[in-house]
Amino acid sequence: MTQTGSYDEYMAIAELYDYVVPYQERADVGFFVEAAKESGGPVLEVGCGTGRVLIPTAQAGIEISGLDLSPHMLAICRERMKAEPEEVQSRVRLVEGDMRQFELAQSFQLVTLPFRPFQHLTKVEEQLACLSCIRQHLRDGGKLILDIFNPKLESLVGTNFGKEMAEEPEFSMPDGRRVIRRHSVVSRDVANQINYVELIHYVTYPDGRQERLVQAFPMRYLFRFEAEHLLSRAGFTVEQLYADYDKSPYGSKYPGELIFVARKAKD
Ligand SMILES: C[S@@+](CC[C@H](N)C(=O)[O-])C[C@H]1O[C@@H](n2cnc3c(N)ncnc32)[C@H](O)[C@@H]1O
Repeated sequence: MTQTGSYDEYMAIAELYDYVVPYQERADVGFFVEAAKESGGPVLEVGCGTGRVLIPTAQAGIEISGLDLSPHMLAICRERMKAEPEEVQSRVRLVEGDMRQFELAQSFQLVTLPFRPFQHLTKVEEQLACLSCIRQHLRDGGKLILDIFNPKLESLVGTNFGKEMAEEPEFSMPDGRRVIRRHSVVSRDVANQINYVELIHYVTYPDGRQERLVQAFPMRYLFRFEAEHLLSRAGFTVEQLYADYDKSPYGSKYPGELIFVARKAKD
């Protein structure tokens, strides 16, 4: 398994991830579980994180492998798996690795990238490398679900750089820590379609001690036709494009998501 040795952007916040209110409220889990069931499995989730989608998929009876670059996110997933019955555990395989270069010695009926891991790749060469690896791991007729956000034009002309936005409710950790999370776009590289984002966590311990944890990362935004061309170039045929996890078609809401369901094209 190739390691890039790059900084793990999720290290500082992995243990908080599952308690973040907007993450808990994301309406995507049912969509991905249904797609996994329709495929019959096995499924590969690329950028599986703490198992937010992976564990419900295994609970639904589907064999699933999870690949993630972050040992910290995978450690949380492994810990959560311990609470699952043996039968569910036996359906899961977790691999620490890089979506730009991996070799799992297994092929899959479905590959998914729920909640935008693909947007951590900032260069076209990296995107193509990832899609090529995915294609190599797909069985003939297998599908890929690529889940990215639809860039809202108004927010791309915003210049509130570095301003911390606070729109989320406070959340609590099981040990009594209270966390307020804010987000900020620190800068934007318009030429390369990258927002440099910070998620800032203000943590208050039960004894009153305070801590500021920052998850800083570049986020590449992609437009609809760009992503379609990319998928086509990488050997996929787009069959559906949804704006939401309720399968609303693209264009029915704005900005909505860009959820591509693409089939592995024949060689
Ligand atoms: C927003 S989280 C999504 C996690 C999970 N899919 C979910 O829906 O909750 C993005 C994940 O992508 C992983 N990731 C980022 N770059 C990666 C790479 N090059 N290879 C594999 N995983 C990567 C991160 O470690 C993180 O766990």
